[in-house]
Amino acid sequence: MRVLGIETSCDDTSAAVVSDGRVLSNVVSSQAAVHRPFRGVVPELASRQHLARIGPVVERALSEAGRGRLDAVAYTRGPGLMGPLLVGKVAGQTLARLLGVRAVGVNHLEGHVLAAGLEHRLRWPLIALVVSGGHTELVLARAPGRYRVLGRTRDDAAGEAYDKVARLFGLGYPGGPEIDERAAKGDPGAVDFPRPSLEGSWDFSFSGLKTSVLYHLRDHPGPVRGKRLAGLCASFQEAVAETLVDKTVAAAKRFGAKDIVIGGGVAANSRLRALMGERARAAGFAVRLPSRLLCTDNAAMIAHVGALLLRGRRAPRAGRADPALALSSWA
Ligand code: KG4
Ligand code: ZN
Repeated sequence: MRVLGIETSCDDTSAAVVSDGRVLSNVVSSQAAVHRPFRGVVPELASRQHLARIGPVVERALSEAGRGRLDAVAYTRGPGLMGPLLVGKVAGQTLARLLGVRAVGVNHLEGHVLAAGLEHRLRWPLIALVVSGGHTELVLARAPGRYRVLGRTRDDAAGEAYDKVARLFGLGYPGGPEIDERAAKGDPGAVDFPRPSLEGSWDFSFSGLKTSVLYHLRDHPGPVRGKRLAGLCASFQEAVAETLVDKTVAAAKRFGAKDIVIGGGVAANSRLRALMGERARAAGFAVRLPSRLLCTDNAAMIAHVGALLLRGRRAPRAGRADPALALSSWA
């Protein structure tokens, strides 16, 4: 089955062609430069950028994939920003109608949960950690389409914490890659930031960690650059990675998972990838890490889920755009 995927939920305009689990093209046009001066995504600007970019991005994805008849068009119907979601939905449904093929609305979070399946053979049940600018969800997946959200963030998403702390450090937006790069040269033991654990719950919380970074800077004034900056970045990154990894591995043990997968922009983080690999292997689990392009927002994961939905027993509906769409099971 050959599916065109369209992803426009936030600030990446993406289109991809996936054929029987193989990624034939995955074009991502990032709007980061447009939103950078505002240090965050401006929804109205994002909608206009998607409108301007979606045509050329789809054309490129189709031409890179080469000849072949499409069987369906899958688009992200939520969660995300309403304007951007509508652009993808209208583009997807229009193309599907013109081509005379099915249109399928896909949950963006399900895309992140299953993205690893494009590169790895997944074994079920699995525990998925979805960490991005808008989400931090720990999910038990018994099979494709059978999910239970065990826990989520009670305040900031992991990526949001990265972006806000990067700002405190005087770094640019998005903050995740900026901190990741500097942390590589820093000592993770430089500052002992707290590991917020929320005992007895699968939820996460990052606001306390963010506040302790703020207090540390207040109590230790002076320029934040060079070795000091690298140490701060590495110490913050270590605290986030340990918090995420400990709970994920504990959930894998508790629910008898066979695999651990991670997805979302923060899953591109070097330390999170390394630490998850180490601790999961030590506990006897295999970690299926998607390549970085499949961690951040991309349309290949949407096409992949669209194809799975079409192969399922229940006929998927096109579905309206829903900014607050929850991750739910198919049946
Ligand atoms: O999944 P994504 O591309 O978009 C959303 O759905 O939010 O995630 C974007 C988030 C941003 O907060 C960004 O700072 C973070 O992912 N991010 C990273 C890294 N690359 C992107 N965080 C930590 N380390 C990275 N290497
Ligand atoms: Zn995302």
